[in-house]
Amino acid sequence: MRTVWFMTGNPGKVREAQHALQPLGFDVQQLVVEGIEIVEPQCNDLEIVARSKLKQAKPHLPSRGDALMVEDAGLFVDGLKGFPGAYSSYVLETLGCSGILDLMEGHKVRAAEFQAVAALLLDDRVHVSRGVCRGTIAMEASGDEGFGFDPIFVPSPIERNGEHYSTNGLTFAEVSLSVKEQFSHRRNALEGLFELLSTIDSASSS
Ligand code: IMP
Repeated sequence: MRTVWFMTGNPGKVREAQHALQPLGFDVQQLVVEGIEIVEPQCNDLEIVARSKLKQAKPHLPSRGDALMVEDAGLFVDGLKGFPGAYSSYVLETLGCSGILDLMEGHKVRAAEFQAVAALLLDDRVHVSRGVCRGTIAMEASGDEGFGFDPIFVPSPIERNGEHYSTNGLTFAEVSLSVKEQFSHRRNALEGLFELLSTIDSASSS
């Protein structure tokens, strides 16, 4: 069984990936790189950030044959030219949800999206998958569920596998995690990567 080292500070993300990758023959472990700081490049493209993290962490892989995975996400507001994007964690800490609402004052178009990029280094090749969730920035923050910018984000209704999903105007912070997951940018990115892996896996075992 191949080991996939998931570099993240979030054990919840590791559990989700374990659940999805185990049936494909991968054993997912959390990689915590100690003693060095992984530097995030100053740019607004999540894929560049993810690729840079993979490159920096590669020398710290316990075994050369193992795979390495990272996942990055952010909120991109159309009317703010994609801000806060790759800077979302920092902007959440500094301006918070209320800061984004202030910046949106006077904007009639409130369209925005969450983006996630999952990237995997396997046998010296990088595989990348993106997930997107379109929606709008609410007029005010509501709800206590979730994290980050969930209280100000209302997902757009979607159709998937013949099913219609909508929060009926509620923010991500006003719905349960299982409802949020139906729209999740993160889930879409990870699923895309797992699909890619299953084709590689079946190709290598055939
Ligand atoms: P990360 O790369 O998954 O750690 O996400 C970076 C930042 O983007 C977080 O600190 C949040 O501010 C924001 N973010 C990413 N995904 C979500 C989400 O699903 N809900 C709310 N905020 C999110």
